[in-house]
Amino acid sequence: MVKNITVQAQAKINLFLHLTGKRKDGYHLLDSLVVFAGCGDVLEVEEADNISLEIVGKYSAALADAHQEKNLVWKAAVALRKYSVNNQGARIRLIKNLPVASGIGGGSADAAAAIRALRVLWKLDIPERELSEIALGLGSDVPVCLYGKPALIRGVGEEVIPVTLREKAYMVLVNPNIPLATAEIFQSFNFSGKAHRTLAEDIVSLEEITDGRGYGNDLEPAAINKLPVIREMLAALRTTEACFLARMSGSGATCFGLYHDKETARNAARELQILYPLAWCEATHVS
Ligand code: C5P
Repeated sequence: MVKNITVQAQAKINLFLHLTGKRKDGYHLLDSLVVFAGCGDVLEVEEADNISLEIVGKYSAALADAHQEKNLVWKAAVALRKYSVNNQGARIRLIKNLPVASGIGGGSADAAAAIRALRVLWKLDIPERELSEIALGLGSDVPVCLYGKPALIRGVGEEVIPVTLREKAYMVLVNPNIPLATAEIFQSFNFSGKAHRTLAEDIVSLEEITDGRGYGNDLEPAAINKLPVIREMLAALRTTEACFLARMSGSGATCFGLYHDKETARNAARELQILYPLAWCEATHVS
């Protein structure tokens, strides 16, 4: 019988992010290619009478003041508990390795990891549709994080379209260690401008999603406006050897550079870390 489980909550990267519309409730319609990085938070769960959450790790302090009940991991556990026999509990330990409010879905990946782990721990049998609703209710990025593989997301994140990428790629992630509030960045995007068209579903290569082909991150200008260092970091990534794409992920501030080769990515990460000693900088792969 499974009594404890450890799951990875891999960082979510929006390789492109287009806003294609705005709903009456203020939420934006998205068209985005999402992949996962090799790095992420870690979630450990074990059987217990009640739900409890302990947050440790490099970035735990950023969450220390927030009410536990507001953490997406907690919310996911409460949402799933309804399906468990006798309202089971779980002792949850979140090892927070990713910077918070950084555009790489830390909270969403953690919530998806909690869903994955608790489904096994509590032996839950939840209909797929209800599970998707729970995931979306926790946040726009949770459904794709639950899927966990490269996908296009549409709608407000509820449509997850699997994508098979041809090539292996390596990635450098750089974040200035300054949080950006997602809602604020979305709100400062002026939708009266021209809406991005929905692009192809048959993407197979990362070489296809360059700026020249009409791909980008629509939230970049708003994020740069709030945090001009993002522009500098993108420029720095672009000057690293053999970087074939550099862009911001999500609502920022994390930027990524893509490379075909592991060693080149590692060298680029070293350069970026020297340029920005206070930044969080990781060389990883596209999972
Ligand atoms: O879904 P999530 O909780 O991550 O969203 C945070 C905020 O970002 C929302 O409250 C909303 O203001 C904005 N948002 C949006 N359109 C989306 C996703 C988020 O406007 N598709």
